[in-house]
Amino acid sequence: MDLRHDRSTFSDAEAVATLPLTITEVGMERLDLIRRLNVAIFDDEHIINTFDRDGILMLVAWTEDQTPVGFKLGYRLDDETFYSAKGGVREEYRRNGIARALLHALLAAATERGYERFVYDTFPNKHPGMTVMGLDEGFTVVRAGYSPRYQDYRLRFALPLDEPESKKRRDVDQGEAT
Ligand SMILES: CC(C)(COP(=O)(O)OP(=O)(O)OC[C@H]1O[C@@H](n2cnc3c(N)ncnc32)[C@H](O)[C@@H]1OP(=O)(O)O)[C@@H](O)C(=O)NCCC(=O)NCCS
Repeated sequence: MDLRHDRSTFSDAEAVATLPLTITEVGMERLDLIRRLNVAIFDDEHIINTFDRDGILMLVAWTEDQTPVGFKLGYRLDDETFYSAKGGVREEYRRNGIARALLHALLAAATERGYERFVYDTFPNKHPGMTVMGLDEGFTVVRAGYSPRYQDYRLRFALPLDEPESKKRRDVDQGEAT
């Protein structure tokens, strides 16, 4: 696995971008912001089929001057699995490591919430970036099929997650106490 970057906290994640970046978690009350970013990036109102999901997690990346430049969101697929459903970076800010920073931050958030596996689907011919980055980040392809709707192959990438730092600390504390 590629261990070039530490991805255990938001500040570790922010540091992989090549420009000063802040990543924040936003709640459903900021759905308007996600909608605006989604339209700017995908030129499409559709974000995901439904927000009626358990464990929704939404992240926004901001530049130093507080411009929102990218987002990434996902939700609980089952007790062990976090599904990263959608994300993107505004065109004029691409290739600055922002998508990688958002991925690292979402990995950190999913790890901290106790998930054991992080997965996402992507269309490699339509959006090659997420395929290239997934392989570079140590993900493996665990499913592949053709989607007539999107006229591309749909690949599912998966990565096992570590134990959360908070649990590791608890285990150490308990170990020391006994
Ligand atoms: C894919 C996307 C999110 C990448 O955002 P980004 O901020 O430019 O990505 P990063 O700068 O973090 O790139 C990280 C790595 O991903 C890979 N990558 C990113 N864009 C790529 C592209 N167009 N082609 C090939 N590889 C790409 C590279 O390995 C890159 O590392 P490098 O720059 O060191 O070579 C962005 O191009 C985007 O929003 N595209 C449209 C929407 C989309 O495809 N969303 C994902 C599917 S839902």
